[in-house]
Amino acid sequence: MNGIFITLEGPDGSGKSTIMELITDYFNNKNIDFITTREPGGTEIGEKIRNIVLDKDNKNMAAETEALLYAASRGQHVDEKILPALKAGKVVLCERFVLSSLAYQGVGRSLGIEKVKMINDFAIKGIVPDLTLFFHVDPISTLDRKTEEKGGDRLEREGSQFHQEVYEGYMKLLKLYPENIEIIDASKSIEEVFNQSIYHIESILKKREE
Ligand code: TMP
Repeated sequence: MNGIFITLEGPDGSGKSTIMELITDYFNNKNIDFITTREPGGTEIGEKIRNIVLDKDNKNMAAETEALLYAASRGQHVDEKILPALKAGKVVLCERFVLSSLAYQGVGRSLGIEKVKMINDFAIKGIVPDLTLFFHVDPISTLDRKTEEKGGDRLEREGSQFHQEVYEGYMKLLKLYPENIEIIDASKSIEEVFNQSIYHIESILKKREE
């Protein structure tokens, strides 16, 4: 399998989607064979799960149910889309992956990193990112902006305490699993954040050519 699996991670409102679009343009200009995708979702079944898990009316969803739904969406995503693309030698650029579940459900929902890792290990058939770009930004200020703009989905509507815990979860996870993770200072201008991202992407693409 000679594809490359790149994931974008970070708190809500850290600018992942904007940079994802710029990386897409960059890959197109370079004629790189790639796909972009996201979690939760990325497949027809996964998008249905996304609607359930992010529906702001599902107020009484148990934390366990939430964690299993994210893992279920991921299992489908790996099987139907990520694995076949990697096998075909493509670059897979994915917004969020297991690290999000470890931070949001493992730490934010207090289910425990190990338990959440276990259900995800079951779902992902041994696939791990070759590179994770972690967009580091103060979670509270950016989130306020996002929820003010759109009203926010079920997770975005959680209080600042929850998002602070998610942020601290990420900080813990960066120490626990530093392998293949590059930290991007997402408080900088879009151009600078894009340049930082491309620097790491180019070095992994070069490694594949060697
Ligand atoms: P998005 O806004 O980045 O599309 O992600 C949707 C929300 O789902 C976001 O608040 C983060 C959350 N999330 C989890 O809680 N666990 C997960 O495993 C994933 C992929 C996302």
